[in-house]
Amino acid sequence: MKPEILVVGNMWSQEVRDQLRQSFECHFVDAIPVAGDAGFDAIAGSIRAVLTTGMVGLTPELVASLPALEIVSVNGVGVDAVPLALLAQKHIHVTNTPDVLTDDVADFAVTLLLSTVRRLPQLDRYVRDNKWPARAPLTHARSLKGKVAGIVGFGRIGQTVAQRLQGFGLEIRYFQRSAGPAPEKRSSSLLALAEESDMLVLCMPGGADTRHMIDARVLEALGPEGTLVNIARGSVVDEAALVAALRDGRLGAAGLDVFDDEPNVPAALFELDNVVLTPHVGSFTLEARRAMGRLAVANLEAHFSGEPLPTPVI
Ligand code: 8YV
Repeated sequence: MKPEILVVGNMWSQEVRDQLRQSFECHFVDAIPVAGDAGFDAIAGSIRAVLTTGMVGLTPELVASLPALEIVSVNGVGVDAVPLALLAQKHIHVTNTPDVLTDDVADFAVTLLLSTVRRLPQLDRYVRDNKWPARAPLTHARSLKGKVAGIVGFGRIGQTVAQRLQGFGLEIRYFQRSAGPAPEKRSSSLLALAEESDMLVLCMPGGADTRHMIDARVLEALGPEGTLVNIARGSVVDEAALVAALRDGRLGAAGLDVFDDEPNVPAALFELDNVVLTPHVGSFTLEARRAMGRLAVANLEAHFSGEPLPTPVI
């Protein structure tokens, strides 16, 4: 008999669905089910695996209602939406999809930084709104060369962003709690990094440890000429402080791909001309999403064939 699995979310490609159906008895649900949901109680006892997305994750309540759960496969690198300590305590495996998205996420971080600093969406709006023939005034962009880019979180994605940004003549500095490579580039604290940098690119993991790490003090240190780019998680930034700093000109500009309560974006940001907003799409290329889907399925297949997990988290 094929193992029964719960597949959460409605963004799975046909390829992933077909692959899953070959190896598993699949129960597809759009959102995390709760006890009492139609049909869920009848299947909960036989579910041996959950496939979920990095953003949806799963709740401790769902874990509690799945007594036969052996493995959670996360389609994404971030596992902050998954109750890791609880799963570890129950000896339930967790896997994610690192590496296969690194280049595309790093490309996107650079794209968002350039778009924010060179004001690309604003220029596009200028042309579409037919302001050019009237020679309506334009705000100057700023150059990158010779400036300092501070990377917060110098893991796989942060280091890849740094490599790309060096090509633009930016000096790279970084901060993370652990030492990391290139100790000479590491600032002594996050606040020091913000003071030393013209732009901050957030690449750290989400979760309780990094919640609101970017607070009013850090934004103040980055300053009225500074640019913040967030491709990490909305939770790492104090969003109210960010909106206030951008509105009052205490922070120069921001490029934001992630938000605290997605898909809800603070309406105050829509009013500001110094922000570029995108809908959490760092890894959203056909190639990265295909590779992530395949890896997420491969982790499940390896588990049920008794083979080593390709990319275990715990
Ligand atoms: C995705 C992500 O949005 O990998 C992550 O942690 O945030 C993104 O790649 C998401 O996980 C897709 O399921």
